[in-house]
Amino acid sequence: MLDKIKSTTTYIQSKISTPPEVGIILGTGLGGLVNEINIKHTLPYSEIPNFPVSTVEGHSGKLIFGELGGKNVVAMQGRFHYYEGYSMQQVTFPVRVMKMLGIKTLLVSNASGGVNSGFEIGDLMIINDHINFFPEHPLNGKNKPELGPRFPDMSEAYSKDLITKGKKVAMANNIKVQEGVYLGLSGPTFETPAEYRMVKVLGADAVGMSTVPEIIVARHMNIPCFAISIITDLGVEGKIVEVTHEDVQEVAAQSEKKMTIIMKELMKELN
Ligand code: HPA
Repeated sequence: MLDKIKSTTTYIQSKISTPPEVGIILGTGLGGLVNEINIKHTLPYSEIPNFPVSTVEGHSGKLIFGELGGKNVVAMQGRFHYYEGYSMQQVTFPVRVMKMLGIKTLLVSNASGGVNSGFEIGDLMIINDHINFFPEHPLNGKNKPELGPRFPDMSEAYSKDLITKGKKVAMANNIKVQEGVYLGLSGPTFETPAEYRMVKVLGADAVGMSTVPEIIVARHMNIPCFAISIITDLGVEGKIVEVTHEDVQEVAAQSEKKMTIIMKELMKELN
């Protein structure tokens, strides 16, 4: 695996002029932040050695290099989901490559179902912690000490400093944000009412099918992380209705502007 990470990194380095300082993973319907990037290079996943190719609708599958808020960034337009059939190693491979390319911070966005009764559809939730409910762990197997320790600390999976900065930026721009715990599970089914109830009982505020693997691997490599979720539907008793991927994409698209402002402004606050 290390050889693959290194050879992919070397390939990408041969295609770009400036190493990225910040990595960004854009979730479902949230690719719009890309329009704010002063793009210097675009690499379709299909052209990058060892990169899996994304299959789900609404994920166009490109690595974008450029400048955003005064920082050199690499953005993944489209991520790899476990439910697509990829192994956890494949899902998290790009994060390891981004680290080797030089990123010092990881920003992540996603769509999720809210189970907190105080949430509304279209709300943004800054993720302050997570619960890993995936059936496979991305760090399972022999540890690679070059990447990180055998037993990584997860006491601050989401950087407190970045959360403070994110909230400050949201307030300064008059954007309402919620804050809470994200529970990640495999999908691809949305939850049954009983499962949404379980998610709530377990102590989460929102549930989704991504992010947790990438954050675990980033924390293994000691990268500070910040993540925002768009609440696209509610798993709240009395408010549960049918959900489709199209609904999720539509709500995400509506809230995308707010998320884009936070990410862009937060970029300026990074050290
Ligand atoms: N459950 C899981 N994943 C999701 C949801 C949900 O309700 N909404 C968007 N992604």
